[in-house]
Amino acid sequence: MKLIYPVLFLTLVSVAAAADLTGNWVAGNPGSDGFARKQYFDLKLEGGKITGHVRTGQFYYTVASSTGTPEAFTLDVEMMDGSQKRTAKFEGKLVGDSLHIITRRNGNASEITARRAPAGEGAMPPRIQLPTLHKVPENGLAKTPPMGWNSWNKFAGRVDDAAVRGMADAMVSSGMRDAGYIYINIDDTWEGERDAQGNITSNKKFPDMKALADYVHSKGLKIGIYSSPGPNTCAGYEGSHGHELQDAKTWAAWGIDYLKYDWCGARNLYTDAEMQAVYQVMGDALAQAGRPIVYSLCQYGRQDVWKWGPEVGGNLWRTTGDIRDAWDSMTKIGFEQNDLAPYAKPGHWNDPDMLEIGNGKMSAEEYRTHMSLWSILAAPLLAGNDLRDMTQEIKDILMNREVIAVDQDAAGKQGRRISKENDIEIWSRDLADGTKALGIFNRGAVAQKVPVKLSQARDLWAHKDVTAPGTYAPEVPSHGVVLLKVKK
Ligand code: GLA
Repeated sequence: MKLIYPVLFLTLVSVAAAADLTGNWVAGNPGSDGFARKQYFDLKLEGGKITGHVRTGQFYYTVASSTGTPEAFTLDVEMMDGSQKRTAKFEGKLVGDSLHIITRRNGNASEITARRAPAGEGAMPPRIQLPTLHKVPENGLAKTPPMGWNSWNKFAGRVDDAAVRGMADAMVSSGMRDAGYIYINIDDTWEGERDAQGNITSNKKFPDMKALADYVHSKGLKIGIYSSPGPNTCAGYEGSHGHELQDAKTWAAWGIDYLKYDWCGARNLYTDAEMQAVYQVMGDALAQAGRPIVYSLCQYGRQDVWKWGPEVGGNLWRTTGDIRDAWDSMTKIGFEQNDLAPYAKPGHWNDPDMLEIGNGKMSAEEYRTHMSLWSILAAPLLAGNDLRDMTQEIKDILMNREVIAVDQDAAGKQGRRISKENDIEIWSRDLADGTKALGIFNRGAVAQKVPVKLSQARDLWAHKDVTAPGTYAPEVPSHGVVLLKVKK
């Protein structure tokens, strides 16, 4: 009978220990694509205070403050992202030996359950040794701005092998390939786990990358892929951190022709000032991979990337945050590119992000503005819509060869704003044949007649020659454009 007391005592101790928040917790099971996007809560409860780290998707936070008890607590977490502080709040409770984390969004609460994980699992990996800066040799690609398609704007995480094959088919049958759209680019969410040798694999949505690349190539097209210099991509999938050369070689072996390399999880390991060295690592890796691969930098225009993009082997670099299929988003981005004009040249382009044409939230007039502005900017033309399902109007916008010719002009000079009066902006781009493209944009809510001095021009949307007695005053619709090719 006497033995009962120690047994009871031990049981009580272990219940108390189980109620301890301290430890490493992991949540997240494989999704339908087979990839588990895990979240880690590495916490320590001491003197009523919780400290530690939370790793979720591309972010690695430090717990800044906490309230409550293990039965009902909150965590305020923060991290530095360049010069910007990012914060988040978590609510949780310990139930038995699992940790329930509650997320509230738009008045709805959802709960994830985390289980205990071995100490150290999910810890941020160490930084790689950054190289000294040098010039990565030119790859000779992208003599004109890349044209093609990218999966993100329309499909985000839903892109899969069938969609990519369908897009390649539609690129050909719609006539887009023959109009110059060559790259079929898979954005984030194709990634699987690494195998025992550290080789990156694709997830269940992409059963065979080499076969997919062969298929795309068989259509006379090229294929692109996406990764991050961080341990995680923006959508929380596996990044290339510490495997840069190995990944470049894997992609080359698959037959990949284009890489979009997105800062994402690298923000947890490196400062913005280190970006150039971090991007140089992949630039060097691509140069050694044994296959010509267009190198697209995506770090949202931080650190004046246009000044060093070519040094790291970049063929193009994003100049802004993400575009949305909305007039405000598209115009805010497009009309703010003026000062970057000097940095564009054959082989090296400013990238104001992918096209939203055909995604349904802007009018045809607005999409013509989008196409015209991007062409004057010598921007990459990466369609972001579902090519299998396009109206004639959208096809006519994306495949206006006279406008495409402006974008693809061999001189590679990015256009500039030459005047702005209230809602009317006039932009001009010098072309290789000595003519210039003139875009008359109306950002306002009512149509306006805009007089410009010229005697002969070609209207690139009306597909008509224009002759005028010295002054031409076309009516420019609200949110619309008149795009002319003018003899100087
Ligand atoms: C970032 C990029 C986007 C897209 C997503 C994918 O937001 O800027 O263009 O690639 O990541 O997660």
